[in-house]
Amino acid sequence: MFILAPSILAADFCRLGDEIRAVRRAGAQYLHIDVMDGMFVPNISLGVPVVASVRKGTDMVLDVHLMIEEPVRYAEAFARAGADIICVHAEACSDLKAALDTIKGLGARAAVSVKPGTGPEAILGVLDRVDMALIMSVEPGFGGQAFMPEMLKKAEFLADYAAKNNLKYDIEMDGGIDLSNIARVLASGVNVVVAGSSVFGADDPARAVTGFFAAAEGLKP
Ligand code: DX5
Ligand code: ZN
Repeated sequence: MFILAPSILAADFCRLGDEIRAVRRAGAQYLHIDVMDGMFVPNISLGVPVVASVRKGTDMVLDVHLMIEEPVRYAEAFARAGADIICVHAEACSDLKAALDTIKGLGARAAVSVKPGTGPEAILGVLDRVDMALIMSVEPGFGGQAFMPEMLKKAEFLADYAAKNNLKYDIEMDGGIDLSNIARVLASGVNVVVAGSSVFGADDPARAVTGFFAAAEGLKP
């Protein structure tokens, strides 16, 4: 099933509640929340209190993407704040397995992400314990960057790997996705699509969501 995860990084934070309700009503299932620490990535975004506030205002699945060093330090805080999915970067964890197991132990879904320069081999050893693998299709840190089509083969590889090894995980892609490349993204095996600028940066975010679902529907065999 196609899942759309609008990223609030591109939202108007003064009107966040309204913007979230609009994309929810239009059919988006997940809300992607980008947490940045100014260390793992050269930008600072938002943290635990924002996740807790958003949790009070919506029943959407909160997909929390931690772009922070040693994210396991904050796993419990984000789980308590109401994160449904907690995603850590392979590059940011000194003990990736332990970080993912900690997340699972907290009752959240565990996800692992790789930056564009990191190959899938970096996460093969943990795919048996994740609910989702997130492939970055831009360098993490900023919204509004251009999609890197070379990342599609990583999704193909991970989809193929799941089938061959009898594993089950969602494949999410994040960065630069819009109506011009959604077909290629979904064809590569991705089933969870993050969209920041192309949803909250649009004049009418709800219509943008509808556009994504119409495109996905049109691609069905
Ligand atoms: C980038 C973030 C993305 C970002 C996507 O570091 O991980 O989730 O919000 O924004 P767009 O869709 O504008 O590339
Ligand atoms: Zn993200």
